[in-house]
Amino acid sequence: MNKTAITAAPILPVLAERWSPRSYDTAHEVSQHELTSILEAARWAPSANNGQPWRFSVATRGSELHEKVAAGLNGFNGSWAPSASALIVVSVLKTHADGSEYKSAHYDAGLAVANLTIQAQELGLHTHQMMGIEHATIHQNLGLDDNLAVLLVVSVGKVAAADQLTGPAYEREIQPRVRHALDEIVLHGKP
Ligand SMILES: Cc1cc2nc3c(=O)[nH]c(=O)nc-3n(C[C@H](O)[C@H](O)[C@H](O)COP(=O)(O)O)c2cc1C
Repeated sequence: MNKTAITAAPILPVLAERWSPRSYDTAHEVSQHELTSILEAARWAPSANNGQPWRFSVATRGSELHEKVAAGLNGFNGSWAPSASALIVVSVLKTHADGSEYKSAHYDAGLAVANLTIQAQELGLHTHQMMGIEHATIHQNLGLDDNLAVLLVVSVGKVAAADQLTGPAYEREIQPRVRHALDEIVLHGKP
């Protein structure tokens, strides 16, 4: 199944080839070195005032923590994401040290997750971000600090054949990847 992005001008292969699968190799185990590599990529993302308001909880398949994260996935995500080699919970700081609202935290964390997904892709792994989660359940199950808000969960693993899925997960897996045309998202004409 070819999921490579069709682009009007070349982009980095690692960007063109990234996509979000639901079918993962259930025998694959992600190494500590690979996890460190993708977390380092996230760590070196830019952030407003270098505040780095992101926190990561890494749960590898088979661990107790993994069960706690998987219990907080919604029904659809819970049907496929636990097969991935790891689930990474991304949380963000709610306030600064002085108690004021941390307005850039979600944006900053998005940049860090983007880095994470691209580094994983470079390592031959695939990622799938999920906001279809019970945020409060995951927060509680992980015993997170009150000043942290769960943002989303990212699955990481080796992609497997689509036909090991059934139902809606299979249907979505075989859909072609689509995007708005550049003309629609670049205002006032073509670049
Ligand atoms: C913030 C965010 C939340 C998402 N939540 C879910 C989700 O709960 N379940 C799901 O199957 N995909 C989820 N996705 C994946 C998107 O549907 C996917 O990235 C998009 O359809 C583009 O497909 P691609 O990543 O394969 O290019 C999410 C992606 C992002 C960035």
